[in-house]
Amino acid sequence: MLAIIGGSGLTEFASLEVSQRKRVSTPYGEPSAALTFGRIGGRPVVFLARHGDPHGIPPHQVNYRANLWALAECAPVGIVSVAAVGGIRSGLKPGDLVIPHQIIDYTWGRESTYHEWPDSPVRHVDFSEPFDPCLRQSLIDAAEATGAAVSASAVYAATQGPRLETAAEIDRLERDGAAVVGMTGMPEAVLARELAIAYAAINVVANYAAGRGDSRQGISLEAIHGVLDASMHRVRAIIERMLSAND
Ligand code: HPA
Repeated sequence: MLAIIGGSGLTEFASLEVSQRKRVSTPYGEPSAALTFGRIGGRPVVFLARHGDPHGIPPHQVNYRANLWALAECAPVGIVSVAAVGGIRSGLKPGDLVIPHQIIDYTWGRESTYHEWPDSPVRHVDFSEPFDPCLRQSLIDAAEATGAAVSASAVYAATQGPRLETAAEIDRLERDGAAVVGMTGMPEAVLARELAIAYAAINVVANYAAGRGDSRQGISLEAIHGVLDASMHRVRAIIERMLSAND
C-alpha cells in the first residue's frame, strides 16, 4: 500500500475509490484527519489530508508525529508527500512541478522526533539524503511517462509559516542554495526517516517566492489557489502512473 499526504489543493483524490475512512489515535494524539483507504487504478492506497478536512490546520500546528505514526501503522511501502511551494530558483514558475532532493530546515519549535527523554533515549538518524532515492526515481519516471515536466533536483527550504516570507528572507534562502520554499516538509521527512519509511515529495510551485517575478507586487492568495486547482491533475496523473508501474 502506498501512503499519500495531500497538502493545500489536494484534500482528496477524485480517482480514489474509497473503501473506508478511519479515525485513528496515536500515542502522539490525533492525525490531521481520518485516514482514507481505497484504491487508485486498483492499487491500494491510504490518503491523509495534512491540513485537515476541511483544510484549516496551519503548517506549524500540524501534528506531524501523529500523522506519520498513523500512516506507519498501515505499513506502507512508502509515503508520497504532495505540497505547494514558492519558486525561488530562476526559471521556476507557477504551475511547475518539482521533486526535491535536499532540504534545509528553518522551522523551529516543532515536535520533530519520536525519541524524547525520558521516554526514549536519544537517537541520531542519518539524514544526509532526506528523500528515498528509489521512491524519488519512481516519481521522476512516472512524471516522464505522463509527459509532465518536473525539476528533479531542487533544495527545499522549510520555513515556519504561517506567514509568507519577506523578500530579504527569500534572498537569503537563495544564497543558501534553496530552489523552492514551503512550510510542511519538516519535520515530516525526518519523522518518516525515524520510522524507516521511504518518503519522497512532489511539490507544485504555486507562486513566485516573495520578491520574485510577479510576487514583487505582493503575493495573491487567490492566484495561488488558481494555480493549485489548475495543476493538481498533473500530480494525480503522476501518482496514478507510479502506482500502475509498481506492480
Ligand atoms: N512560501 C512558503 N510556502 C509556500 C509558498 C511560499 O511562497 N507558496 C506555497 N507554499
